[in-house]
Amino acid sequence: MILETERLTLAPLVPADAPYVYPFMSDPEVMAHWDRAPVEDPDEVAGAVAAQVEEMEQGKALYWAIRLTRTGRFMGYCELVDLDWRHHRGELGFIIAREDWGQGYATEAVKAVLAHCASSGLKRMVARTHVGDSRSEKLLLKLGFEQEGYLKGHVDREGERRDCRLFGLLF
Ligand SMILES: CC(C)(COP(=O)(O)OP(=O)(O)OC[C@H]1O[C@@H](n2cnc3c(N)ncnc32)[C@H](O)[C@@H]1OP(=O)(O)O)[C@@H](O)C(=O)NCCC(=O)NCCS
Repeated sequence: MILETERLTLAPLVPADAPYVYPFMSDPEVMAHWDRAPVEDPDEVAGAVAAQVEEMEQGKALYWAIRLTRTGRFMGYCELVDLDWRHHRGELGFIIAREDWGQGYATEAVKAVLAHCASSGLKRMVARTHVGDSRSEKLLLKLGFEQEGYLKGHVDREGERRDCRLFGLLF
């Protein structure tokens, strides 16, 4: 399902998007608070995108490529993972290329994804941030999420255990 906002077009991720995902997946600043470390090998990114597409085909997750409608420029993606239709819930994630930060693009994209989730019958969203990721925390609070938990050493990033904050939203 394609989602349109004032400035953005969100379309399901496809394998051909991998070369556009690589620049930000390999950027240490963008990946500073992501569960996996920056990926240096473009083939590894292509493999990750292929796995994401497969998850979508299996109905386990949704990934939307975010593009600027005016130019078609690829700027990031929004993900809805761990989809659970028994409990009507899913986990939200978002990533935007560094040069596009601070212009409200993530806010605009995530709002559209949340509206789509609500109209699809989901009742509950969670999102997780690494402690210290104030940009994502601010974004989630602005969109109505509340902090519901603090997860000690939740992530293993190349041997480093990281604490996370758990945010939740009920529609
Ligand atoms: C988090 C992220 C998606 C935000 O994207 P973005 O397009 O810059 O977000 P927006 O412009 O819509 O909004 C970000 C908010 O953070 C604010 N912000 C900017 N810099 C900030 C900072 N250093 N500290 C706190 N807040 C900051 C902005 O002012 C804005 O709030 P406002 O609209 O009230 O002014 C982007 O930084 C990113 O891709 N980060 C890396 C990926 C990641 O770790 N994702 C989180 C995992 S779920």
